Amino acid sequence: MCGIIGCVGREDETLDVLVHGLSKLEYRGYDSAGVALSGERVDVCKKSGKIEDLREALESRSIGGAAGIGHTRWSTHGPPTDANAHPHLDCSGDVAVVHNGIIENYQSLRDELVAAGHTFKSDTDTEVVPHLVEDALADGLDNEAAVREAISRLEGSYAVAAAVSGDDTIYTARNDSPLVLGIDDEAEGQEAYYLASDVPAFRDFTDRVVYLADGEFATLSAEGWTVTDEDGDPVDKDVDTVDWDPEETGKSGYDHFMLKEIHEQPRAIRQCLRGRVDEMAATVDIGDLGDLSPTGVQFVACGTSYHAALYGAQLLRNAGIPAQAFLASEYATSPPPIGDALVVGVTQSGETADTLSALREARKRGARTLAVTNTVGSTVARECDHALYIRAGPEIGVAASKTFASQLAALNLFTLGTTRVEGKRDVIGALRDLPSDIQAILDDSNAEAVADTYVDSDAYFFIGRGLQYPVALEGALKMKEITYKHAEGFAAGELKHGPLALVTEDTPVFAVVTGDGEMARKTIGNVKEVEARDAPVVAVTDGQSDVERYADHVLEVPETHPQAAAVLANVQLQLVSYYVADELGRSIDKPRNLAKSVTVE
Ligand code: F6R
Repeated sequence: MCGIIGCVGREDETLDVLVHGLSKLEYRGYDSAGVALSGERVDVCKKSGKIEDLREALESRSIGGAAGIGHTRWSTHGPPTDANAHPHLDCSGDVAVVHNGIIENYQSLRDELVAAGHTFKSDTDTEVVPHLVEDALADGLDNEAAVREAISRLEGSYAVAAAVSGDDTIYTARNDSPLVLGIDDEAEGQEAYYLASDVPAFRDFTDRVVYLADGEFATLSAEGWTVTDEDGDPVDKDVDTVDWDPEETGKSGYDHFMLKEIHEQPRAIRQCLRGRVDEMAATVDIGDLGDLSPTGVQFVACGTSYHAALYGAQLLRNAGIPAQAFLASEYATSPPPIGDALVVGVTQSGETADTLSALREARKRGARTLAVTNTVGSTVARECDHALYIRAGPEIGVAASKTFASQLAALNLFTLGTTRVEGKRDVIGALRDLPSDIQAILDDSNAEAVADTYVDSDAYFFIGRGLQYPVALEGALKMKEITYKHAEGFAAGELKHGPLALVTEDTPVFAVVTGDGEMARKTIGNVKEVEARDAPVVAVTDGQSDVERYADHVLEVPETHPQAAAVLANVQLQLVSYYVADELGRSIDKPRNLAKSVTVE
């Protein structure tokens, strides 16, 4: 949902560093992109379309400066045109601003500024900021004070960065939108400093980071960096070191990030489990969460993370703990009684606005909160009482893949570590086997052939029961997102209550059937119902039941514990969606209209 970047100290390389950083942030939005460099003047180049379009536009421009800012946009106010692309300028052209978030009071600010004689060139909310800075400069404030003054007028969410003509300092601040500084000051005389919405933007240059908190304001210049609070008082910040390599944000020879990330699932699960499970003792150690002992749990999450939350709620209910999953965007509109329940936000990015506001609502009502997230230093991790990291590593493809698998693994750890559920040793053993089981699927999947058979279908349906119900929902979401085809996931038993009317010989039904218990038998009953309507059936199965008899195609998964079977079945469905999308030539890593991190409600 928009990415911003800034850099000082790279001299002639500033432009290249910014464009490189934007390419790493493109997953956050790809409607338009732009840069501003400040030398004697502020020089701006911006373009609708992808970073490639900006690169092309830059070829015919000579643009330079010792400090710079950049932006890649996911449109909220105004269509994706050149004029609406960031950076935005004030009337004089001396102040350039990039912004991620939504300025809620922009209309009243804009009316005030227009009445005072300012001319606006875009439809964006952001453009009020450079004009506010311009006014503050005209009132005699220095550059830093003027940017501070402008920011103090904003209501809403923002990570902003500003560059001013004749000044090689970059000014930046955040409220409710992610912002991290990169510190490269170890080689004397070659110090460089960065800011970005996310670490991959500058990870090729430094692994030392400072996460800014809401209300903080920072300056970056060749002389160093400062962080101050809303009153201008210095804040003592920790410099953290990120523990993943820059190569992890490259494609490593895969055609798409998504395919690479699907293939990274064995490693992601290993990382999630490392140091946390002891199979011999049948114990799980998830740090200081061990004493949480929840008597009830409410999950809040969106999209894929909501599917993980549905799965987590079932695990807890199976362990005797009342648990429910809520769509975060609905939670605050009709909040359930919380009692002494623990409220758990499941969010890969840790920045999803709907999830953050559901958690804030819960906290307002006195609830204890836990973040299950991939992102150290994210807003959710800082705001919740506890954080459980899924440790999937960076995920660049907009459609979540490995982070879903890691969320499921982490939710198993959470259940094992905080409840008295029986059979812990079996679950831990199955979790331990997950990396090799996933690898077996990746090495031997016939998903590409299945995708090829059904690439022209009108619509796709996915059914599953129990722990495989969230997998059916996730299978359908993935198919929609990256193929742009109609797809729906259902609880298998619900099919006959309406959706069966949609089932025809042109609508393949993917049935997830693992184990050979009552649940499998019932789902096979549902499979027969669709088979009787001539729908092609693709069974995702471990071969324990006889579902194969009713299926046109089979996607096999290794036999395992039911809790791990959900992770395995999902891998096969990810691959089918990927190959359908690939055959259709879709923009798999950056599907139309979507962004990786959705920081607006
Ligand atoms: C789907 C997808 C989205 C996210 C959702 C929540 O592939 O990625 O549905 O799951 O936007 O994002 P996080 O987990 O960052 O809160």
